[in-house]
Amino acid sequence: MRVLILYRLLIFLLFSSISFSVVGQQKTNPDSISKKMTWFQDAKLGIFIHWGIYAVNGVDESWAFYNKKMTWEAYMKQLNGFTASKYNPTDWVNLIKASGAKYAVLTTKHHDGVALWNTNQGHYSTVKNTPAKRDVLTPFYQELRKQNIKAGAYFSLIDWSHPDYPAFMKDSMRYKVKDQPAKWQKFRDFYQSQLNEVADQFKPDLFWFDGDWEHNAEEWESEKVRANLLSKNPGAIINGRLMGYGDYDTPEQNVPVTRPKYNWWELCMTINNNWGFQHRDTNWKTPSQIIALFADVVSHGGNLLLDIGPKEDGTIPEEQRNVLLELGNWNKKHERAIFGSIPGIALGHFYGPTTLSKDSTKLYLFLQGQTAGQIMVKGLDNAIQSIKVVGSEQELSHKVVGKISWSPVPGLVYIDVPQGVQDKYMTVLELQLDKPVKLYSGRGGFE
Ligand code: GLC
Repeated sequence: MRVLILYRLLIFLLFSSISFSVVGQQKTNPDSISKKMTWFQDAKLGIFIHWGIYAVNGVDESWAFYNKKMTWEAYMKQLNGFTASKYNPTDWVNLIKASGAKYAVLTTKHHDGVALWNTNQGHYSTVKNTPAKRDVLTPFYQELRKQNIKAGAYFSLIDWSHPDYPAFMKDSMRYKVKDQPAKWQKFRDFYQSQLNEVADQFKPDLFWFDGDWEHNAEEWESEKVRANLLSKNPGAIINGRLMGYGDYDTPEQNVPVTRPKYNWWELCMTINNNWGFQHRDTNWKTPSQIIALFADVVSHGGNLLLDIGPKEDGTIPEEQRNVLLELGNWNKKHERAIFGSIPGIALGHFYGPTTLSKDSTKLYLFLQGQTAGQIMVKGLDNAIQSIKVVGSEQELSHKVVGKISWSPVPGLVYIDVPQGVQDKYMTVLELQLDKPVKLYSGRGGFE
């Protein structure tokens, strides 16, 4: 029993230390980067794309061999099956555009070390080692630019296939950094040269690092890497997986309940369980769930980076297309409540997601499901000029209840939501206020 408890504690510590490194606050001074973060803050939605040889057999991206679900040799055999035969970057970007996303992040190289561009650093690539025989990144980034979508490059710091990289599988290391500093230096030169190739060839607006947890900032030379990327493009945004030298935080899969204290953050999330294409994984989230989650993230000041995993031939699974298109239709209808909005009012005033227009004179309430009836807002110290259903623009009536003439505490706002005005997924109400939102959040009659 005691052994079991100890074991669980160990697992807990291991995982909590991993997640600390993932969400840990950045060293970057928010004032110095706030200008370049503007587009990111307004973007709200990005599409993450995990594409690699792991889609051939439909196994865990890179982790399949690391976790010894298969041998490294068997994993790398998937190189022979990566064809990109139906890859149509215009179709990809059309779909991304249709979802309403303002940026996309594609895996230029995952932990397995296979580059999706023509790397000159003598390591695996889809150009030299797969029947696709091509750099699949260039046409994708060109198309993104054409359609005015910001270009993000995921880049794994970890490279478990590289002979000079220390870690290989979960229970085997090639060497330790402190025992062979020259070898580590060789790897560092290699990875930084690859990164320069990505920066110079694709000029990403955003670098999305991954895998920083295997080494510290000094070992990765995070500060130097950051400075180098910014010297090439001072406006580039760097995600928070560079051991503290990024611009924003990247919680993964787990939805925060309370509002995170970070200036900028982005929740990355899969539509089924896995990042890459896996034919056995049919645990799809529904459009309704994704939309509710998206509204929730935006209401707390975050972005959603929603993942798709194309097949080896470059086709995108139907279920993922469907989610992106449904989300896109909803976004189009509710554009003003989401894009360019700022985080809404605290829970307690309203029990659901909310956002505000930038000048705070419009309050948006997000209603889950098909419920008709009355909804209530507490502690809103504003006169309401009008209430509209976003999209249909139908006007709704409201009544202020329980306002006591001698008290500074605002009354309760009751809004009538009749049958028939609901959106299929999430209905949004727009409250036009008399002045920027003013909230009373005191103790009511206890004061
Ligand atoms: C992780 C995983 C990886 C995935 C990524 C996406 O850290 O290592 O497989 O690409 O998160 O956020």
